[in-house]
Amino acid sequence: MLCPHGLPVEGAPIAPTVPDTPVPPVTPLATSTRPPVVRRLPDPPSLLTPGIERDPYPLYRTLRQRFPLVYDRPFGAWLVSRYADVRAALADPRLVAAPPGRTLAHLEGGTHSAHRALVSPAFRGHALTALTAGVERTAYVLARRLADRQEADLVAEFCHWLPTAAAVAALGLPYEDTARVHAWCRTGLDHLGGHHPELDAFLLPYIARRRAHPGDDLLSALCTARADGRPLSDEAVAGIAGTLLGAGGEATAHALASFLANLLDHPGQLALVRARPELTAGAWAESLRRDPPLHIVLRRAVEPVGAVPVGATVACLLGAAGRDPARFADPDRYDVFRPDPGQLAYGSGRHFCPGALLARLTAEHGLHALFAALPELRRSPGFHPVADGLLSRSPRSLLVRLGRPAPEGPPATARKAPPHACAP
Ligand code: HEM
Repeated sequence: MLCPHGLPVEGAPIAPTVPDTPVPPVTPLATSTRPPVVRRLPDPPSLLTPGIERDPYPLYRTLRQRFPLVYDRPFGAWLVSRYADVRAALADPRLVAAPPGRTLAHLEGGTHSAHRALVSPAFRGHALTALTAGVERTAYVLARRLADRQEADLVAEFCHWLPTAAAVAALGLPYEDTARVHAWCRTGLDHLGGHHPELDAFLLPYIARRRAHPGDDLLSALCTARADGRPLSDEAVAGIAGTLLGAGGEATAHALASFLANLLDHPGQLALVRARPELTAGAWAESLRRDPPLHIVLRRAVEPVGAVPVGATVACLLGAAGRDPARFADPDRYDVFRPDPGQLAYGSGRHFCPGALLARLTAEHGLHALFAALPELRRSPGFHPVADGLLSRSPRSLLVRLGRPAPEGPPATARKAPPHACAP
């Protein structure tokens, strides 16, 4: 079972009510203006069709056009794919977080609001300043390490490290521990509640020290923060730190990989963003629209919603919504000048991602650090980034050239061999 950020969470596997009566007619969920398809269609396509994780876009198109709300029996959920419907479903109080669990993204009602209030101190004021400084510093360190290289894989050597290393730096934890913190984050950190036994055991002594001697790092800011007039408990501080280090970082890493891939795939737009940094925020939002890192957010119906019965699971397809032609002109195109790329990649309504600003700052500082350290950054010749995955999706590698392009010389056959060349 995976959380909205693609990491495993505790609790039951997806266990929707599988309708034992025939699947009802297909009707749109919300406010879509397109006419409903009312006849029962045979064999609706499924998210579990082999190969979908390599290219889900033809399926998304079919779903939007012909099956705007449909029960996917193999996947065990109702699929919602049009922009307006996904947006409405995410914010609909009759559709609650699924599966239920301890973590923030899986809570509802008063408990959800109370836990959200605990997390929010990390995303404002002094804590946010510390976090941003950590991101900026780390981005430059990581980018400068690549500066003497000819070639690199930006996914493995930059995108996967930046969010975790930045959070480690901002929290004031030792830099040498980045690798093991990163390993905990990638092996099942229950991030949205942020608890991992080994990570908690690692953090608690630091929390005790910061309570006794607060510094100017983020952990100290959390230790001195107050929610409802009271300081946060050690457990809450460890949970928020885990959230920052964990799958929030994973989502950002995936999004960063797609962002860089989109820019490197469009050298003209890359050059524009390099020359005009004020375009970066739009370039990032456009990448999140076109290639969100999380393609599926799950909900469970606590009241009937259209054809969806009580107890059924609903899969809100963020990846399909971002390419809905009813909302976005020429939706497959990456265009840093798109006037309104929308915000659905971060969800909508009461669960809207509290890390959205931090993620954007990470992308902006990450890109500008790469620009500053690597003036010749370009895609490796012949390499094409290929996105993979469905719950969380991004290119798995991004090979780039970093050195100066070789000057154009005479054709290889006409070149004079060096004096002691041993090649024939
Ligand atoms: C590009 C990066 C990110 C994307 C695309 C993203 C996306 C999302 C989405 C779609 C949700 C809503 C889930 C739902 O409606 O059930 C969400 C929730 C959440 N995200 Fe993110 N996220 C990102 C980065 C982060 C970061 C950096 C953090 C923390 C440091 C974070 C922490 C959270 C938390 C705590 C929630 C649960 C909020 C709630 O249920 O009230 N996210 N995120």
